Amino acid sequence: TWTSANIVEEQVELIRQQVGDARVISALSGGVDSAVSTALVQKAIGDQLTAVFVDHGLLRQGEAEQVRQDYVAATGVDLKVVDAKDQFLGFLEGVTDPEEKRKIIGREFIRTFEAAEREVLATPGAPVKFLVQGTLYPDVVESGGGEGAANIKSHHNVGGLPEDLEFSLIEPLRTLFKDEVRQVGRQLGIPEAIVSRHPFPGPGLAIRIVGAVSEERLEILRRADAIVREETTAAGLDTEIWQFPVVLLADVRSVGVQGDGRTYGHPIVLRPVSSEDAMTADWSRLPYELLERISTRITNEVDEVNRVVLDVTSKPPGTIEWE
Ligand code: XMP
Repeated sequence: TWTSANIVEEQVELIRQQVGDARVISALSGGVDSAVSTALVQKAIGDQLTAVFVDHGLLRQGEAEQVRQDYVAATGVDLKVVDAKDQFLGFLEGVTDPEEKRKIIGREFIRTFEAAEREVLATPGAPVKFLVQGTLYPDVVESGGGEGAANIKSHHNVGGLPEDLEFSLIEPLRTLFKDEVRQVGRQLGIPEAIVSRHPFPGPGLAIRIVGAVSEERLEILRRADAIVREETTAAGLDTEIWQFPVVLLADVRSVGVQGDGRTYGHPIVLRPVSSEDAMTADWSRLPYELLERISTRITNEVDEVNRVVLDVTSKPPGTIEWE
C-alpha cells in the first residue's frame, strides 16, 4: 500500500544502496521537488551530502533567502551557496527563444555544479559521484522518458544534459506525482510553507518573461509576482490553486491613461491554474474581488505595467507556462 512513510523508508534504503560510501551533490533549486528529494537524500546519508544552491537570480522575491535560512534550519543540510547571477544574465542576454533559454540555463546549471563538485572534492573524503535531481513522473513522461510520449518541452532536469556529465543521477521522486511529493515532504518534517509551495520551473522567471531577460525586466516581474502571491495568500486560495504563473510580456506595449498622462507600458498576464499533476490543467475561476485587488495593486505599484490580463486557456491546448 502507498503511504508516505513507506516511500520514505523504501527510498532511504535504495539511496543508501546506490550511494555506498561516495559523496553526493544535490541540485537544490528552491522548488518543492528539489527540496524534498534533497531532504530524502539527507535522511539517507546525512553528511555525505552537500547541497548546492545556485542563485541564478531567476527566483521570485525572497525565495533565495528562504532556501538559505528556513530550509537549512529545517533539514540541517550542508548548503553551499553559489552566486551566479551575473553569469546567468550574461549568457541569457538577447535570447528570446524559450528552448534556447532552457538549454542555456540547463547547461550553466551543470557547469556550475561541476565547479562546485571540484571544490567539494578538494576537501578530504570519498569521491563525489552522484547528483540528486527532483524529477517527477510527469517530467519523465513529457520529456519522452515514458512509453510513446511526445517530447513536448525539453525540461532541463531530464533532457539536455551535456554528454560529459560526471555524475550518476539519484532521482528519488521519479515515480511520484506532485501531491505525493508533498506528502513525502511532510513525512520528512519539512515546514509546511515549503512543502505546500507551488511548483516552480527550474529555469525560473526566465521563462515567464516573453522576450529577452534583463535585470530590469526581472525586477518588474518580481514586484508584480510578489503582489499576486501576497493577495492570493491573503484570500486563502493557495491550496486551491495548483500554480499561479505571472508572466511579463516584455516586448509588448499598450497605451493606457493614469493620472493626467498617457502611459505606454507592458502587460502582465495572470495564469492561475488548477491541476492534479500538471499534465492537464484548467484555468482557475478566481473571485472577481481578488482579481480586482491584484490588478489595481500591480498597475498602481509597478510603474512599468499599465495592464493586467487573465489567461482563460486550459491545458491542452495551452501549456501552464507561456514558454
Ligand atoms: P507546462 O508549461 O509544460 O508545465 O504545462 C508543466 C509543469 O512543468 C513546469 N515546467 C518546468 N519545470 N523546467 C522545470 O523544472 C522547465 O523547463 C519547465 N517548464 C515547465 C511548469 O511550471 C509546470 O508545473
